[in-house]
Amino acid sequence: MSSDEPQELPQTLADLSTPAFVINRHAFAENCRAVLKQVALGGIRLRPHIKTHKTVEGAFLQVCGNETNNDNGKSTSPFDENASGFVTSTLPEIELLVDAAPKLKGPFLDILYGVGISESKLSRIHALQTKLSKIDDSGKIHVMVDHPSQVEWMEQFCRNVSKSFQFSAFLKLDTGYHRAGTTCDARGVDVAMKIIQSPHVTLFGLYSHCGHAYDVNTPEDLKDIAVTDMKLITGFMDLLRERLEPMDTDFPMEKLVVSVGSTPSAFSHDTGSVSVPNLELHPGNYTLYDRQQLWTGVCPSTNHVAGRVLSRVIGHYLDRNTVLLDAGATALTKDGAPQGGVCQITGYEDESSGIVCHKMSQEVVQIKPSTEGGTMPYDQFPLGKLVTLLPNHSCLAAACFDTYYIIDDPSCQFKSDQPIVDQWIPAKGW
Ligand SMILES: Cc1ncc(COP(=O)(O)O)c(C=O)c1O
Repeated sequence: MSSDEPQELPQTLADLSTPAFVINRHAFAENCRAVLKQVALGGIRLRPHIKTHKTVEGAFLQVCGNETNNDNGKSTSPFDENASGFVTSTLPEIELLVDAAPKLKGPFLDILYGVGISESKLSRIHALQTKLSKIDDSGKIHVMVDHPSQVEWMEQFCRNVSKSFQFSAFLKLDTGYHRAGTTCDARGVDVAMKIIQSPHVTLFGLYSHCGHAYDVNTPEDLKDIAVTDMKLITGFMDLLRERLEPMDTDFPMEKLVVSVGSTPSAFSHDTGSVSVPNLELHPGNYTLYDRQQLWTGVCPSTNHVAGRVLSRVIGHYLDRNTVLLDAGATALTKDGAPQGGVCQITGYEDESSGIVCHKMSQEVVQIKPSTEGGTMPYDQFPLGKLVTLLPNHSCLAAACFDTYYIIDDPSCQFKSDQPIVDQWIPAKGW
């Protein structure tokens, strides 16, 4: 069969070869609506990250909340009024959004490449910006900067390739995660000034990622992280204003976009009381959620875990009291979760279920009783039985697959006769 011949969609989950990645669009859309509601309540905007699913369909739901809003021929925009754009983690994710932009426009015209820019990626960013500008004059691709050398690379690129070209940048600030980002003090202001004074780079916004919110799981601690984040950013903006004041520049501080958050902290940012004019949240994992987010408490229940790995029982080992499933680290990854275990079986999420997914190798996972000497319910796991697994970290598990099979399942039970209604193809590579 030639690759452009339409492939027939398998009818139900039972028709799929395992392992397979399944998304419950019902839960995905509900998760998207909850975050859209949250930003509306706070009077702020949303620039969702698409790294978790890497698809146009998922991106559309993130900024619409409802796929039935999709291009129905009406003149009104299908997009939520608070959707400002997207963040991506790879260039193919940007390519996917830019390819969708001619039809969709709106937030598809404002895209941040959310990983610190390297010199090797500048020509592709330049090409993508040129393509987007042809679709719409207002189209913008932004890069992430936290070091003066990155500004110098962009200046050099423009001198060599396109003297009239202007890169647009977010300055990445470290507000406690300590992974990337410059400090919210004079050193950070130096980098901001380097951008502001550059003939080839525009300072579009400030960006902090509250990744440290993954380490806490009480509403008080999540709030603390969100409040500290905003304090550091507003303090940084005061320092920047002070530095700019005597310089007689016309830099428009009031237009600076401030992008904050993460999935665990998405509902903890007290946006109403903060006087930052262009504030936006940028969570991404909330679309699928996972066991990590069940632990942080931001995922309201297992029903909201929209992405699961479909697997089959392939072994019974009575001598060692285990059952084997045909999905391992190449389908779920070995990322952990604070509550322990390598993943969880749908319907057996509770400790009271008496079984745990305890050991994973490349292509398989072992299930055993959760207590020493416990009974393994072999009758509930006959060979060939289909089960779905809740991943510890959905962003990493989803990235193991080339296709996602879509179901619309309000019961969130992922039963084997659940019809497959669509398939989404994620952007791969870097
Ligand atoms: C820079 C950046 N922004 C936003 C996000 C989205 O955060 P989350 O995955 O918590 O939704 C991530 C996720 O790792 C990130 O690295």
